[in-house]
Amino acid sequence: MSGVDRRTFLKAGAVAGAATAGGAVSASAATAVFEHGVASGDPVPDGVLLWTRVVTSSEVRWEVAHDESFSRIVARGHTRTGAHRDHTVKVEVCGLRPSTRYYYRFRVGDVVSPVGRTKTAPSGDISGVKFGVVSCANWMAGHFVPYGYLADRDDLDAVIHLGDYIYPHYDPKVRDAQPQHEIITLADYRTRHAMYKTDPHLQRLHSLHPFIATWDDNESADNSSAVGALGHDPATEGPWAVRLAAATQAYFEWMPIREGLMFRRLQYGSLLDITMLDLRSHRTPETILGARQRDWLIKGICDGTARWRLIGTSVMFSPLAIPPAPGFPSVNTDQWDGFPTDREIVVRALDRAGMKNAVFLTGDIHSSWAVDVPDGSALKSVATEFITTSVTSDNFDEFLKVPPRTGSLVLEAAIMAKNPHVRFVELDSHGVSTLEVTPDEVRMDWFYTSDRTDPQATIRKAHSWRTRHNTARVEPVLF
Ligand SMILES: [Fe+2]
Repeated sequence: MSGVDRRTFLKAGAVAGAATAGGAVSASAATAVFEHGVASGDPVPDGVLLWTRVVTSSEVRWEVAHDESFSRIVARGHTRTGAHRDHTVKVEVCGLRPSTRYYYRFRVGDVVSPVGRTKTAPSGDISGVKFGVVSCANWMAGHFVPYGYLADRDDLDAVIHLGDYIYPHYDPKVRDAQPQHEIITLADYRTRHAMYKTDPHLQRLHSLHPFIATWDDNESADNSSAVGALGHDPATEGPWAVRLAAATQAYFEWMPIREGLMFRRLQYGSLLDITMLDLRSHRTPETILGARQRDWLIKGICDGTARWRLIGTSVMFSPLAIPPAPGFPSVNTDQWDGFPTDREIVVRALDRAGMKNAVFLTGDIHSSWAVDVPDGSALKSVATEFITTSVTSDNFDEFLKVPPRTGSLVLEAAIMAKNPHVRFVELDSHGVSTLEVTPDEVRMDWFYTSDRTDPQATIRKAHSWRTRHNTARVEPVLF
């Protein structure tokens, strides 16, 4: 919870009169009023954030219960929303029990929302937790079947989203999108977010698991920073600051994330803490973190007491020498390789703290990786990094326009040869991951979709890697 100012949260109103479930309301009425579904996020041991969106300015009542039929209600209240926040609703629920599943719903007049399910974070000593891990879901490039797969998993505590939740351009390869142009204005960003929240797989994922999300560049524009973006032309698209402010506002309105600073830390008992970084809002040509976030991160590394540190970084942390390949630079300066000073400060802090249980959790590069994070001299490993692939966004075979598991095989072998700390890389498949944390190990499992363009695609478990306590090394897991 550090890094977040609780006073800035949109608090739910005082507890109101009972929102009883009287009167039959048709599902179509609920669909009309709550067409963007329900969501929860940022779980803490005694609470969680609830989210929905309604179609009109109105009073919105909410209820939280132990059971799906709402016979054991534990919290209720009401709040208001309006056009100033695009009719989105956020409710901070407190007073809940740790590590407990709850059900929630909203109500406008007689219309009741779909029921959502969520789970609070644990406290104290726990035997394990499991997360879904996702990034890079381009609506226009495919169907979100992998999201649906995670929705159906009954064993997840939360879903960690590492960014590229939306994409800003207009390129309808598989599915058409709204608006039908690059998104620039606040209205554009709101429209694109609203469209995403009509996807049935994503809606189910939100309604069944709390999200712990940060953003990457595509929530604003390609390769974005505080001072500009590769995907932004001030001459034709106006001042970058205006566009970034619009993207930020829409993200906070439409995501189940607490208001305030996006970099934040969530505690999962004594087993782990989750540090979510914001590598876009404070980035300049000199720093990926910005001074404030850097100091906060280093202090967290030094002061933290949890057995494992999970660090959600939207872009790859480990150094990567890219082999000669058509269309690729030798170094990707959009990831931490473009900011070696910031990375060195983090690596040295981990080393000084004797912390070998830091695990970087990464998205962005539309491919699957398990990496030993080397220190600056590459003489030893100071941490580990697991990278989840894209849900649908183009990966290397599509980028190179070659069939999967052909041209990329050569590149994968070349990457491993040039980067001995890279222990596993797969450049072609789309999907999602799960991450299981126990006192003994952190294990990442990759699940791949058979075809991103197929609404009936199937999902299979493809790879499994782990790091064991105090090793700072990854190793394959046979399954
Ligand atoms: Fe992406």
